Amino acid sequence: MFTGLAFLPLVFDTMVGMSKKLDKIFPKNFYWGAASASYQVEGGIENCDWAQAAREGKVPECGDACDHYHKYQGDFDIAKDLGHNATRISLEWARIEPEEGKFDKSAIEHYKKVLQYIVSKDMTPFVTLWHFTLPQWLADKGGFESPDAAEYFARYCEHVVRELGDECRHWATINEPVVFASNGYMRGNWPPFKKRFRSYEKTFKNLAKAHKLAYKRVKNLDIGCEVGIVKDNIYFHGNWNPFNKIIAACMNWWWNRRFLNKISGNFDSIGLNYYFHKKFGDKATYEKTDMGWDIYPEGLYYTIRELKQYDKPIFIAEAGIADERDIHRAEYIRDLVYWTALAVERGANVRAFMYWSLLDNFEWALGFEKRFGLIEIDYKTQKRKVRESAYVYKKICQNNGVVD
Ligand code: FCB
Repeated sequence: MFTGLAFLPLVFDTMVGMSKKLDKIFPKNFYWGAASASYQVEGGIENCDWAQAAREGKVPECGDACDHYHKYQGDFDIAKDLGHNATRISLEWARIEPEEGKFDKSAIEHYKKVLQYIVSKDMTPFVTLWHFTLPQWLADKGGFESPDAAEYFARYCEHVVRELGDECRHWATINEPVVFASNGYMRGNWPPFKKRFRSYEKTFKNLAKAHKLAYKRVKNLDIGCEVGIVKDNIYFHGNWNPFNKIIAACMNWWWNRRFLNKISGNFDSIGLNYYFHKKFGDKATYEKTDMGWDIYPEGLYYTIRELKQYDKPIFIAEAGIADERDIHRAEYIRDLVYWTALAVERGANVRAFMYWSLLDNFEWALGFEKRFGLIEIDYKTQKRKVRESAYVYKKICQNNGVVD
């Protein structure tokens, strides 16, 4: 999918650059899989801020979600059948630490079983310690605006990795800190529904502090695991007008680089989530996903390239499409893999590609309507049905990136 003349040089480069076959480009031990997050799929989580907000009628109820908490074995069986050799999950802080400072052994046992099951299927787990939802006790204390939040977070992370470090080597602390801070504290459409720049800034800084402290504590355990951050980056660009290019560069700093710069030196890898591009001064129209987002897979190439300056291994932690009718997904995945391959061929150190998402799931303030899954969920019966596009991705996984 090439849009406009601006891409001509890239198309030319591409023809030259992609002379090698893709299977030669992706390293042999490349990780292919899909991602999910605890609150969005597990079901039965009632002691966190999102559940509380749902009870207050401010966001949709999540309820049983996909009941993945009980059905994880079947779900990972399907992932395995779909050729995945890796998977990304997150853990629910509110399950593990339901009360301040009290860790629930049974929750750890549950996640241990989950991780052991993933490993038993010869899949490599990538675990994010925290993906948006806060235990209610912490929300009551002001969440990440609280001056103690960093300490609470680091204590939680250290506990979890000490308990589960044998089961997983690839850890990430926070999913999408800037999205979290922006939606919850500036746009005000997620808990705690604030619209104050000062709250945003406080949260942003505390998140960076929390990450750094957690990174240090986990690394001090000295168990040889990798600790990264998962960052939501947008491809900002501009039309011919230099003014638009300057705006794009400023936004790039503000949204993409500011957080990473703040925590620089304190991460072993970067998980990249890519969903958006924004071209300033652009009059073009694009095909849209069911979220109303432009279909623009080439932006992944640029967001990967942009991370080069940090000189750390990159894993694509999320890239995907809401597409209920499954009419764009296969092509979109092929294109994403293509652009990743191009970046790799040009020297980017990308180690993994995780499609978002394995299952249809709870899409935050939008509830269950949007369908990102390789696997369709019938929420009434909890039946799983593999979408056609999942088989296209299967071929890619099995052939290590060959796109036909
Ligand atoms: C990302 C989130 C993920 C999901 C996708 C669509 O921002 O990390 O939980 O909602 O967007």
